[in-house]
Amino acid sequence: MHHILEDLERRRQEARLGGGRKRIDAQHAKGKLTAHERIDVLLDEGSFEELDRYVEHNCVDFGMTEQVIPGDGVVTGSGTINGRLVYVFSQDFTVFGGSLSERHAQKICKIMDSAMKVGAPVIGINDSGGARIQEGVASLGGYAEVFQRNVLASGVVPQLSMIMGPCAGGAVYSPAMTDFIFMVKDSSYMFVTGPDVVKTVTNEVVTQEELGGAVTHTTKSGVADVAFENDIEALLAARDFVDFLPASNRVDVPERPTDDPWDREEPSLDTLIPASSNQPYDMHELIRKTVDEGDFFELQPAHAANIIVGFGRIEGRTVGVVANQPTVLAGVLDIASSKKAARFVRFCDAFDIPIVTFVDVPGFLPGVAQEHNGIIKNGAKLLFAYAEATVPKITVITRKAYGGAYDVMASKHLRGDLNYAWPTAEIAVMGAKGAVEIIFRQDIGDADKIAARTAEYEARFANPFVAASKGFIDEVIMPHATRPRIALGLRKLRGKALENPWKKHDNIPL
Ligand code: HXC
Repeated sequence: MHHILEDLERRRQEARLGGGRKRIDAQHAKGKLTAHERIDVLLDEGSFEELDRYVEHNCVDFGMTEQVIPGDGVVTGSGTINGRLVYVFSQDFTVFGGSLSERHAQKICKIMDSAMKVGAPVIGINDSGGARIQEGVASLGGYAEVFQRNVLASGVVPQLSMIMGPCAGGAVYSPAMTDFIFMVKDSSYMFVTGPDVVKTVTNEVVTQEELGGAVTHTTKSGVADVAFENDIEALLAARDFVDFLPASNRVDVPERPTDDPWDREEPSLDTLIPASSNQPYDMHELIRKTVDEGDFFELQPAHAANIIVGFGRIEGRTVGVVANQPTVLAGVLDIASSKKAARFVRFCDAFDIPIVTFVDVPGFLPGVAQEHNGIIKNGAKLLFAYAEATVPKITVITRKAYGGAYDVMASKHLRGDLNYAWPTAEIAVMGAKGAVEIIFRQDIGDADKIAARTAEYEARFANPFVAASKGFIDEVIMPHATRPRIALGLRKLRGKALENPWKKHDNIPL
């Protein structure tokens, strides 16, 4: 009996070594952790239960029968993050470059199926040379099996992709279909075709990092959400992040105790809005002073920064925050910011996370490039997302809410549950100057008349009371009372029940 137990232990140790000491050292030399080490950082100590440790590939071509490594390049199983169940796969670059074989894919699919059955998030750690070249189409089939599950799991359980090494070719489409992507600077990249192919086809010379590194994807393309300095920073952030997420679409948002009083007032917010309405202020200040303990997990902070999205908590319960950012492009809505916020709003709605929207928006960004690249369809994404959302929606207009952007930003008309305005709110079709130049065009040569008309327009619309008189604003609130009003509102809205008409699915303007 004893030697059988020893044999099991030996097999386990062997499997943990993956592609061997030399390749582990090479992995470390690149500043990367191994697949097991990553799981150790990600999950609560001792909570990981590995599955399929002895799975082997079934390839008989190209001498592969001689090269069999238990686990076949991916570590899979489940464990906990701060006591809450998650399923994990972690590709092992030391085994055939973490490449995806048929069996490797089957292991990933198995934990995705389990996660969907029990209702728990899936975290995928990607570090792979792509399709296992020796296996050919079997590997492509494996990818498609994973893709199919990504789609079926979308909106059922949260899916987080950690890109911690290569992720190229069609392999990028699995992370792309998950809800969130975290990347590590300098050691991870994502592209459909790499620098060599790009050079051959378009004659553009570009490095891996420039083409698809963490900075590129979290600034320019918006493919990824957050870039981290190293594996450990990324994995610890993932732990904090998962704490905000519901386990599935079948359960309530997580609740965690907080010492932050729900009725905390913030007198400093009474002077947040500058004297001149063209002067910017940092919307982060309002967000941090509103959520519990100032704890706000921002997504895509470096992409389309004219809109802020992320998670916070009120009374210990997760809320999604969407806010225009006056310090970047005056907080205007453009293609990138509309897409960014629309996807976030849809995630919140899918997982029943209430949405708090802070509005200071001068309108949509004018320009030929915006029009030609489809601001119409892309702006409509955010409008559509807010309009279809049935979760509790609380909106606070701090300053500008102009034109179509007023409608879009979770207005009353899009079934906003509680629409508040600060006394500094300006709710109008456009700014006073632009409005006067259109409706009093005949007076344009007369500076005094124009000044008088502008003052008249401002007096009428540079406040929230016209909108409030129509019931479009439920209450004009003191800035210092923003947190208590939102907390109370969310409490009252916990029982909200609202259903959209039956349909197979909608047809959001993609
Ligand atoms: C089998 C692979 C592999 C692969 C790497 N390896 N990629 N084995 N299939 N796709 C093996 C290598 O042979 C090597 O084995 C070990 O992994 C480490 O690879 P290195 O090249 O030594 O590492 P590095 O220099 O860091 O370069 C990493 C790399 C490179 C950039 C990922 O390996 C590479 O270009 N690989 C091929 C990438 C690729 O073309 N994949 C297919 C893409 S098409 P030893 O034994 O020496 O340690 C695709 C389609 C998916 O993925 C479609 C889905 C729809």
